[in-house]
Amino acid sequence: MTHAPVSFTVYPGDCDAFGHLNQAAFLVLFERARWQMLAEGPGMDFFEREGVWPAVRRTVIDYQAPAFPGQALRFQQVVTRLGRTSFTMRQVARRVSDEVLVATAESVFVCISRAGSAVPVPPAVAAFLLPAPAPVVAPQRRVSVHGVELALDDRGTGPALLFVHGYPLDGTLWRHQAGVFPGWRTLIPDLRGLGRSDAPDLGYSMATYADDLAGLLDAVGVDDVVLVGLSMGGYIAFEFLRRHRPRVRGLVLADTRAQADSAEGRKGRETAMADVRLGGAPLIAEQMLPRLLAPTAPDPLREEVRAMMAAAAVPGILGALAAMRDRPDSTGLLPSLAGIPTLIVVGAEDRLTSPKDAESMAKAIPGARLAVISDAGHLAPLEQPEAFNQHLGSFLESLGNAPPPAG
Ligand code: MLT
Repeated sequence: MTHAPVSFTVYPGDCDAFGHLNQAAFLVLFERARWQMLAEGPGMDFFEREGVWPAVRRTVIDYQAPAFPGQALRFQQVVTRLGRTSFTMRQVARRVSDEVLVATAESVFVCISRAGSAVPVPPAVAAFLLPAPAPVVAPQRRVSVHGVELALDDRGTGPALLFVHGYPLDGTLWRHQAGVFPGWRTLIPDLRGLGRSDAPDLGYSMATYADDLAGLLDAVGVDDVVLVGLSMGGYIAFEFLRRHRPRVRGLVLADTRAQADSAEGRKGRETAMADVRLGGAPLIAEQMLPRLLAPTAPDPLREEVRAMMAAAAVPGILGALAAMRDRPDSTGLLPSLAGIPTLIVVGAEDRLTSPKDAESMAKAIPGARLAVISDAGHLAPLEQPEAFNQHLGSFLESLGNAPPPAG
């Protein structure tokens, strides 16, 4: 499972004659981090209550950088494999002050009974170790585009709404929008590398994503769309406009921004790439989750979003990070969107792409409408679907194509 990280300070007594944190002390700290994870979760006696004990079968530690007394280290825990009687946990220790990777550990645990024989991992323990799978919108079709199979949720008939999800998410982000706008066809693909779409090792860029979408529209016989992009989906929408503008009859930019990454942002992408190589998608999910949702978001929604991210394919995550890092600035494009009816939506508590970013886009695009949704963070359509659909519905109505959504 992906859990909240825990931090410890290095004590002089943990160090060797050279003043470094001693290699054997790491083993103790990794173990303490696991205990802390239990203490902050179901309790230190959790396994005992379930009648099993997790015996360590193997631990491999990679020492990457020294740590010294007084430095704080942050330990992140991720379960990377859950078997019938065993599980594997990867732990990553970073120096808090500069995020330097200090060490990683991978441990295999076997659940044993009091008599010492291997026993199945109890369901409650399994549920704690790995998040529940996200409820998915079953894609109704798979469409082959540029040699890659994309999953597509395709509902309704009429002019098309094309929903483009963010990173590292999938089409289920739009589950409250699928098929709910009478008179409209909703097209919700999983981008290459994410959700149920193929995840090739190479070939990720904003241009590729945008061309995939154009290819997908060709494949399903749609000429033009109201394009709805959230966050990275918005970055893709800008690229789609640069490359396929005649196919955009309306634009909805949700929780996104027009600026390219700053130098610091690009560095952050590199760190995330290193993290996903080490800890897989669950580690990325753990890191992103606290920034995605409004503080009032209910726990089941948090778990759903966590599971959606934790299920992402590593090549897809790496590809999306590189594509976002290398994307061009789109602020110069905004004034040229004058002829395209545009709605900009943002969660009032979006910490990744702020309401301020949304306001600047609304000012820069002539005639654009702005809707700020309260009690929503970065994933407004999932957090406050009713409000989001109301804004989208009245925007669609203003286009004169179809009635507003039901419910
Ligand atoms: C997203 O939600 O798509 C990403 O968080 C966007 C980003 O990281 O810039």
